[in-house]
Amino acid sequence: MAVPLMTVVLAAGKGTRMRSDTPKVLHRIAGRSMLGHVLDRVGTVAPERQVVVVGPGMEIVAAEARAAGSNIETCVQADQRGTADAVLAAATALAAHRGDVMVLFADTPLLRAETLVRMREMLEGGAGIAVLGFEAADPTGYGRLLTGADGALVAIREHADASDEERRVRLCNAGVMAFRVPDLVALLRKIGDGNAKGELYLTDAVGLARAAGHTVRVVVCSEEEVLGINSRDQLAVAEAIWQRRRRLKVMRDGATLVAPETVWLSYDTVIGRDVTIEPNVVIGPGVVIEDRVTIRANCHIVGHDGKNRAGLRVREGAIVGPFARLRPGADIGPDVHIGNFVEVKNVVMEAGAKANHLAYIGDGRVGAGANIGAGTIFCNYDGFEKHDTEIGAGAFIGSNSALVAPVKIGDGAYIGSGSVITKNVPADALAVARAPQETREGWAAKYRARRRRTPR
Ligand code: UD1
Ligand code: MG
Repeated sequence: MAVPLMTVVLAAGKGTRMRSDTPKVLHRIAGRSMLGHVLDRVGTVAPERQVVVVGPGMEIVAAEARAAGSNIETCVQADQRGTADAVLAAATALAAHRGDVMVLFADTPLLRAETLVRMREMLEGGAGIAVLGFEAADPTGYGRLLTGADGALVAIREHADASDEERRVRLCNAGVMAFRVPDLVALLRKIGDGNAKGELYLTDAVGLARAAGHTVRVVVCSEEEVLGINSRDQLAVAEAIWQRRRRLKVMRDGATLVAPETVWLSYDTVIGRDVTIEPNVVIGPGVVIEDRVTIRANCHIVGHDGKNRAGLRVREGAIVGPFARLRPGADIGPDVHIGNFVEVKNVVMEAGAKANHLAYIGDGRVGAGANIGAGTIFCNYDGFEKHDTEIGAGAFIGSNSALVAPVKIGDGAYIGSGSVITKNVPADALAVARAPQETREGWAAKYRARRRRTPR
């Protein structure tokens, strides 16, 4: 039977080097907080119990943790006295848990699920502690993993406490540790602060566990995977790595990215097969792109923003762009065409509808096969509230029309170009709402002649 697992994610740091009003672990990569990424990864190993340790007054971090899963508990570390002290903030939960414990840092958002699985396998294989390690290009600042002849881990030496010889070791502690020891709380309480920083180091658990007869083993992963974020420049590096990984996955799943390095995806982007995405496309959170869709160059597509989480779907065979903007609640139906400089928000566009040039389509519905002419505006806002515009199937909206919502255009109706439509139009009718044209034969020739006779 599988041994139950409890995870403890340490998120108590303030992250002062970010120079931000937002706590470090809430900074986003691909539209999701670092903490959200770590908790997502933790979810893949199906822990029975999950705790996130936050600093005092960090209620927004705790709220983000709870939003990531209904079974996620939070506890507060009153003073930041080191990583062992942080784990002990969860002592009550730990004491009640029978099984394995895995400790992770919330500022390491690129961890892979497979790596966590390998950590657990190491415990299954008999290790009392499994430590995640990596070969650092520059090990300065990291805890060094000091291994014995048999490859088992003897101790972790923090940089500040290491001898010159120990500092030459490039195998470093990534920060993820998994434990299968009878009483972890008792073990952690033995850790002292006799070190260069005067902190309680979680890493000292290694020596103590060995002294108690446990073996400690190292699981090695790539340096890229355990990049810890302490600054905005590291945040941008992590974003780039994340994007590179996800673009590769999208292409392997059957989409064509013409210039992959210019397409920006979000943590939850769903892209079908035989989708083509041209250069310079930004896809924000909450977007689903179905099979055989083409997204032409320079589009901005966002399904969730700060205030609207309606989501967004581009259905089979639709063509979007170039230079289109799709916002939350846009439902772009099968084979719909959205052309250049068209913005769509909170509108269902039914199958085959077209808006090929220069339009604002906000709030309402566009029926199947309807054609929205260049320059059409849905006047959805009266300064207080938003209202809907309904356009029936097969309707034709002439160019440069303003549709003042709430308003309904019936199936198959025609709207004359340049109209300002304020009243409902029945099916199959023509509505023209503009000043009638006046034509004066010969007027221009007479005017020119007059001006030539009496120059100014
Ligand atoms: C830690 C490790 C080091 C490892 C490195 C990897 C220890 C003693 N050292 O060093 O071996 O190579 O990470 O990046 O564990 N935290 C709390 N409360 C505290 C202290 C820290 O919650 O009192 C959290 C921080 O928010 C952070 C994590 O624990 O997420 C690591 O703390 P940090 O101070 O960054 O440790 P490092 O010096 O980087
Ligand atoms: Mg650190």
